[in-house]
Amino acid sequence: MRPSASARHVALIRARLPRPHTPAGDLRGEHRLHASLAADNAPFERFLAARTEFFDQELLGALRAGLAQVVILGAGYDSRALRFKAPGVRFVEIDLPVTQADKVRRLRALDVSVGHIDFAAADFTVHRVMDVLSETTFDPMRPAVFLCEGVLLYLRHRTVTTLLTELRSGAAPGSLLLVSFAIDGRPPSPSLSPLRHNASGEQRQSFYTPAAVDELLRSCGWRPTRTDHPDHSLAEATDIALFVRAAGAVT
Ligand SMILES: C[S@@+](CC[C@H](N)C(=O)[O-])C[C@H]1O[C@@H](n2cnc3c(N)ncnc32)[C@H](O)[C@@H]1O
Repeated sequence: MRPSASARHVALIRARLPRPHTPAGDLRGEHRLHASLAADNAPFERFLAARTEFFDQELLGALRAGLAQVVILGAGYDSRALRFKAPGVRFVEIDLPVTQADKVRRLRALDVSVGHIDFAAADFTVHRVMDVLSETTFDPMRPAVFLCEGVLLYLRHRTVTTLLTELRSGAAPGSLLLVSFAIDGRPPSPSLSPLRHNASGEQRQSFYTPAAVDELLRSCGWRPTRTDHPDHSLAEATDIALFVRAAGAVT
């Protein structure tokens, strides 16, 4: 058993609230306790910073190189379609209906302009990604960037393989795949990895070794052209991940 993560989460939110205290209240002691709890979050923040930097830089590089279609798979509340909005560039965001509906509702309520974004609700375990894209402004004749960050972890190996293969078969020459994988030091047998849950109960299902990632991508028609591995010392606080840029292999 580990100390409660939810209790730490609650304490850290409370730490930001203006609150009353007694004249003898030990605010310094309280502050030191909160600072020590916050330090426990630091490894995950460093991990997310590394992941965000990799995908931000890669996406910007692709836009600079002239790619004008960005498909964000499992987009969640990723705000890159806003942050990296650029003339002539179209974004398609795909996610499960509930999360996507909530995001769209928030953006509309906030009056944020989303005319350059198509929102397509889909479940990768059920829907074919190219069928989903065919219902949007996505143009299969033009190269695209497919961004899949922090998503494959939640899909079974069979769904991961199908998704990556379909993306490759529907991607025009010059397209790029930007993708992260959860890394497990154990042998490349995703079906044997125990199911794990994150704080919101989502099941973590697919873990690979770096060699298995390489083999998987190539078997799906993608050729890794850059990989990055955040510091192994983060392993205790979070899953280690591999970030990959891949180009369509010549078939
Ligand atoms: C950890 S979040 C990452 C969100 C976003 N990519 C980011 O980095 O901020 C994983 C996302 O994958 C989506 N997802 C999980 N399983 C999915 C599925 N079967 N089909 C479509 N989206 C899925 C979730 O709804 C969630 O938004």
